[in-house]
Amino acid sequence: MTDKYDFKRHRRLRSSAAMRSMVRETQLQMDDFIYPIFVVEGNDIKKEVPSMPGVFQVSLDYVKAEMEELQSLGIKAVMVFGVPAEKDEQGTGAFADTGIVQEATRLIKREVPRMLVVADTCLCEYTSHGHCGVIHNHDVDNDASLELLAKTAVSQVEAGADIIAPSNMMDGFVTVIRHALDGAGYPNVPIMSYAVKYASAFYGPFRDAADSTPQFGDRKTYQMDPSNRLEAIREAESDMEEGADFLIVKPAMSYLDIVRDVKNNFNAPVVAYNVSGEYSMVKAAAQNGWINEKELVLEKLTAMKRAGADLIISYFAKDVAKWLGE
Ligand code: PBG
Repeated sequence: MTDKYDFKRHRRLRSSAAMRSMVRETQLQMDDFIYPIFVVEGNDIKKEVPSMPGVFQVSLDYVKAEMEELQSLGIKAVMVFGVPAEKDEQGTGAFADTGIVQEATRLIKREVPRMLVVADTCLCEYTSHGHCGVIHNHDVDNDASLELLAKTAVSQVEAGADIIAPSNMMDGFVTVIRHALDGAGYPNVPIMSYAVKYASAFYGPFRDAADSTPQFGDRKTYQMDPSNRLEAIREAESDMEEGADFLIVKPAMSYLDIVRDVKNNFNAPVVAYNVSGEYSMVKAAAQNGWINEKELVLEKLTAMKRAGADLIISYFAKDVAKWLGE
């Protein structure tokens, strides 16, 4: 019967687990991951974020133990977000020498120096209005915000941050921050630019975790329109010209076409940000017993790598470490 037909037998390479592993094109490893943490001002606080089961806001006194746990799981880098006690119009807590991210960074680099600290450079957690820059005439003032972002980046590096990750989406942030870091004597600190960041509903749970919901309006005058693909190339292009060392695409799951575009067009490590809403949806479905969490998460993270991500920022990093170790 078969000699009558001419077809290719793809199933030959799927016949056993050993065979499949021989031809597997994409593998997750712990080196791929950056784990986001939320450090809150205060003492003895370890508070689970209601919309993000398994993710906690922790005060400084819990940070060392948290880092030791991450290190024992094989996680090599954290992205630090600060939740300050006080906010103001200018977001001064973002660049205060005693700001929460600065304190957390100093502590991490003192206690667990091999952990790479990626500082998220933005004002939204520190401004009373919750926007990513300063407000003039009911909109975020680009150039006035740049100055504060540059100060923030320098103060984060002074505290010991290994990588600066500006997420504010002001035009020109890479060049302004690069100049500020070089001028302050830090030419070797890389910039992991949130080059391609969409105005996304997937950030909802993060804004609970970081207490950074805008108090009026939305972020659509500075974050990108989810309908646009070519605009992503323009954003990545200018960040590369301005001196970005890594390019972040955010969110990840619904934007894998963009991850691939960025990978194909630019010669820089591409980072996919597997954002809070993507995490929460999976956790909620898992808690209801509707999906196999382990298989689903490993599948979607593998898809991010297959799409071209060299690194993945993910709240699942701890879970992945446990699953890969099984
Ligand atoms: C700060 C920032 C945000 C996220 C990372 N950095 C929130 C936002 O832009 O509103 C979102 C991360 C996530 O959803 O996991 N600008």
